Parts: sequence; C-alpha cells; structure tokens
Amino acid sequence: MELKEKILKGHNRQIRLSRLLAKVGYNTPIGKLLRLVFYYLDGSILLKAWRDFLYIRRDNIGDKFFAVDQAIMHSSHSQVKELMQVEPQLRGNDLGIIRILASSYMLNNPLSLGMNGNEHTGVRAVFLQALPDPSAQAEFLGQLVDQSLSKAATQNQLHIGNDLPKMMLAILHQLVFQISLSEEEITASAAYIKGLVLSSLPNFVSKYLLSFKTAPNIRHRQRLIERYKQSPKWASYMQIAAQYQLNEHQIANSIFDMIHIAGTAGTSALLGSVIGVLCLNDSLRDDVEAEINAVWDGNNTPSGYAIEQSTLINKVILETARLYPPVRFVSQLTTERGTVEIGGKQCPFQKGTRLLGSIFTANRDPQRYQNPDDFDLTRDFSDIVSWNGEGHERVCPGRSLSIGIIKMFCLYLLKNYQWNSFTEVKWDFEKVTAVTPNNLVLQGFAHR
Ligand code: HEM
Repeated sequence: MELKEKILKGHNRQIRLSRLLAKVGYNTPIGKLLRLVFYYLDGSILLKAWRDFLYIRRDNIGDKFFAVDQAIMHSSHSQVKELMQVEPQLRGNDLGIIRILASSYMLNNPLSLGMNGNEHTGVRAVFLQALPDPSAQAEFLGQLVDQSLSKAATQNQLHIGNDLPKMMLAILHQLVFQISLSEEEITASAAYIKGLVLSSLPNFVSKYLLSFKTAPNIRHRQRLIERYKQSPKWASYMQIAAQYQLNEHQIANSIFDMIHIAGTAGTSALLGSVIGVLCLNDSLRDDVEAEINAVWDGNNTPSGYAIEQSTLINKVILETARLYPPVRFVSQLTTERGTVEIGGKQCPFQKGTRLLGSIFTANRDPQRYQNPDDFDLTRDFSDIVSWNGEGHERVCPGRSLSIGIIKMFCLYLLKNYQWNSFTEVKWDFEKVTAVTPNNLVLQGFAHR
C-alpha cells in the first residue's frame, strides 16, 4: 500500500476508535488495549517516515488530527503555543510522543516531564539550582569545551553523531556535579541514551525479554546515581529537595534524566545541526568568524561578556533550532472529556486523552513564518517554541545553558580549531532519530 494511503487509512481507523472508546471507556482494560494497538500501528509508520506522517495528516485532515494512542495532535504554531501555556498542566509519563511504559528502564522514577503538583515544582527547583548560568561560569565552561575538542583533535576527526553526545555528557556532569566520568562511564551513558526507545515497550518485554540489551544500561544508571550522591554539590540539592519532601531516589534519578535526556540528547543534536549549517554556508561562517574575532582574542578562555556579545551566533542557534528542533513533540493530558472537530467531523474525546503539540510543524508553519523552510536570521524569534516557549511553568530550564554551551563550542571551533574537509551534511527526516546530521564528520580535525 502506498505510504499516503496507509497514513490516511490509519486515521480513518482512529476516527472510528474515538467513537468506540466513548462506548467501551478510555481507561478500561479494553480501552487501554485498543489504544496500545493503535499506538504501535501509528508508531510503526512514524519510526520510518515521521515527517511524511505529520505532513500527510496535516495537509489532508487539518491542523488537528489523531495520532498514536488516540492522542490529538496540534500542528500549527498558534495551537502549539497555546497548548504550551496551559497552567497548571496535567502530565502523563511521556517523552513527547513516546510513552514510557517500561518504568524499570528509569528505575521506577517518572520523568520530570511526567510529574505533577508539588513533586514537579520541587524537582524543577532542584534543576534551577543545579544548572549554572553559562556567562557566570564562562571560564570553567571554556576549559571543559576546549578539553573535549582537544580529545577530538588527537583522533584527527570530529564525528557529530558519536562524539558530541559524549562531550556533552562529560561537560554536564562537571557543571552539575563537579565529577569527572571515566571513558567507560561515558560510553555506558551514551549507550543508555541510544537505548531509550526500549523504555517505550511494555515493561515485561523491556525488562525480561530484552534484558540482554536493557540490563547493562539499567545497571549503569544504578551505579552512576550512587556516584552523584558523593558529589560536593549533593548536599545543596538535597537541601532544596527537603523543602518539597522529595527523597534521594527522586532527585538522583531526575537529575540523571535531566543530564542524559534533556541536556545531552537535546544539546548535542542542536550543536550538530549548528555545525552542519556552518559547514554548508561559507559566507555565514565568515560573518560568524568576524564576530568571534571581535569578542575574543583566542587567548585564555572567553569571558561571560564574549558569550553575551555573540549575538549573531545567538541568532544562528535560534534559527537552527527552529528548522531542526531537537525536541519535536510536547505532551499533556486533558482534564475533561469533550468533542473536537477533526477533518470536518465532530469526534468525542475522553478525560485523560493526550494532547500533543508538534514543534517541528509549528516551526515551519507558513502562517507564522514566511518561506518557513528557508534559513533566515532576520526573523522574529520572540515566540519560538523550540524550548517550550517562554513565561510558563513548563519552559525548558536548560535554555540559556544549552545556548551558552553551543556558543562556547562555536567560539573554540572557529577560532582555535580547524578541519580540512567534511563529509555530507544530511538531516534525516525519515527515521525517527534526532534531527541532526548524525553522520557528518569533520576530517583532519586539529588545533590551529
Ligand atoms: C543544557 C541543556 C538542557 C537541559 C539541562 C535541559 C533540561 C530540561 C528539563 C529538565 C526539562 C523538563 C522540565 C520539566 O519537567 O518541567 C526540559 C524540557 C524541555 N526542553 Fe530542555 N534542556 C536542555 C536543552 C534543551 C534544548 C537544546 C532544547 C531544544 C532546542 C530543549 C527543549 C526542551 C523542551 C521543548 C522541553 C519541554 C518538553 C515537554 O514539556 O514535554 N531543551 N529541558
């Protein structure tokens, strides 16, 4: 069957499911089973053709359509922005579109994204304490970035998909815990992130049938969170946690996820895309180099001032995050049942239905961005949704740190390092991996 037909037939079945769920109940065993079947049916297409899936449903059905476990997908910029601003927001334990069904992979601690009420407020207070201001910590951050790039220089190449996540893991553990991970720990953490998709399988499949894959990752998580408790920063995090009656298990696991999922996966994907953009656009790279020369002489580490004055790099990062958002979906739950118009039909939805916001399509919405697929630094970025918008309780707490880290990489890469050539720069819009040119390699990578 042709892809388009498959995607649209799948949606017709979703419409029928909405009526069926109204009869059999959303959270009854049969309702849950039906939704799980649909989750994997749509998921099997999304895995291989995620962008086509979104665009075909949007173009043929409308800005709102059903997807995966009977979730209501919102695809326009205005809808996604509105969804993000709902307060308070009720969440399930979902990582965007992915439902975390194998809680064993997370040592039975929900993602902070899946927490609500006091637990969520407390965990966020700890995050905000743990994440440094990149300008205030510019010297330390500069040293960490330089150390990471020096390592890549000794291997004479920088591989976007393989090396950047490892660099980010080392840097974030230093910034958050002042601990230095061994090569083995970094490799194990990178494997943990790669294995995340295994947490969307039913728990018994992930934990027992696939234990040869999941058990080493889970053991690594257990060992690493014990190390966190030895960190000189630990007591200060637990002091905040105590104010919200949160325990060590919750804090260590939540920070593990903050570093591995939100921090490392998100920031290395965006940094990879920024490097890809700079490789492809010589005149932009020249302009960025000119800005770097104006703010930093290349001696010592760049100052906080250099980070703040890198305004062109800032725009490059924001526009790259618009075109290639590392986080593609946000998710929340409805608190009431109701009806929704989808494809011209009134469809019932039940309390607890997931509302998904598609950041990728929002960022390329022609109603919001002129020539949305073009790279254009003159845009108004004031309401960019890539970091979950601004001014509400669920915004990304790592926004300024992630931008600061990427700026620091740009400063070092273009001023103190060089490469002879690079391989093809290609963003994969089919396989549902990170939107970043994972296979890009900077060859002949060396110190200047
Ligand atoms: C240092 C790097 C980063 C850290 C430490 C970090 C941390 C976090 C954390 C802890 C959350 C969950 C907040 C909560 O539960 O209330 C979050 C949410 C989010 N982050 Fe980040 N983040 C980083 C980088 C990024 C980047 C580079 C992007 C994209 C450009 C991004 C986009 C988002 C989005 C869209 C959400 C909301 C997800 C949702 O609500 O479902 N983050 N981030």
